[in-house]
Amino acid sequence: MTFRPILAACALSMGLALPATADEDPAIAARQGQFKLYSHNFAVLGGMAQGRMDYDAGAAQVAADNLYHLTRLDQGRLWPEGTDSEAVDGTRANISIWEDLDDFVEKFGALQMAAESLQDVAGDGLDEMRAGVGAMGQTCQACHEAHRDEAS
Ligand code: HEC
Repeated sequence: MTFRPILAACALSMGLALPATADEDPAIAARQGQFKLYSHNFAVLGGMAQGRMDYDAGAAQVAADNLYHLTRLDQGRLWPEGTDSEAVDGTRANISIWEDLDDFVEKFGALQMAAESLQDVAGDGLDEMRAGVGAMGQTCQACHEAHRDEAS
């Protein structure tokens, strides 16, 4: 073995020992922040739907309006290739997102449609809102099951 391949092997093993972290890619922090904003608003609607909070038409409408707008944010710069959980520590974005991008985009489209439907009914009464919340929650869950790693 000459010196050069040994150096290369060392660099490789150091690279494996020290994987890139999520902090090094602002796109990861940004998309995780986006999801935190989803759940911050969704919690209001879910809390009312499950009876942990009193239904308040105004507050429900604000949360649903926020979700509508949040789910319209362009995703183009949030999912660069190479930011999956096999390549980077600190993300739960499964490699399947990039391997089956059509499915991911379709599931994101379902979320957008559900947010629009929920926005239409959130202020109309508890039962109307509850149906919309349930439908939207299913779109969150469908994508998480397919494309998000289990929490470690
Ligand atoms: C199209 C796919 C998709 C949809 C739809 C989706 N998520 Fe996620 N979500 C993900 C992925 C992928 C991650 C992991 C992101 C990462 O760690 O880089 C995630 C992460 C999260 C996180 C953790 C964020 C953090 O702090 O790291 C929360 C909370 C979350 N999603 C809530 C929601 C809620 C609430 C909805 C529905 C209103 C939703 N998501 C819809 C794919 C999706």
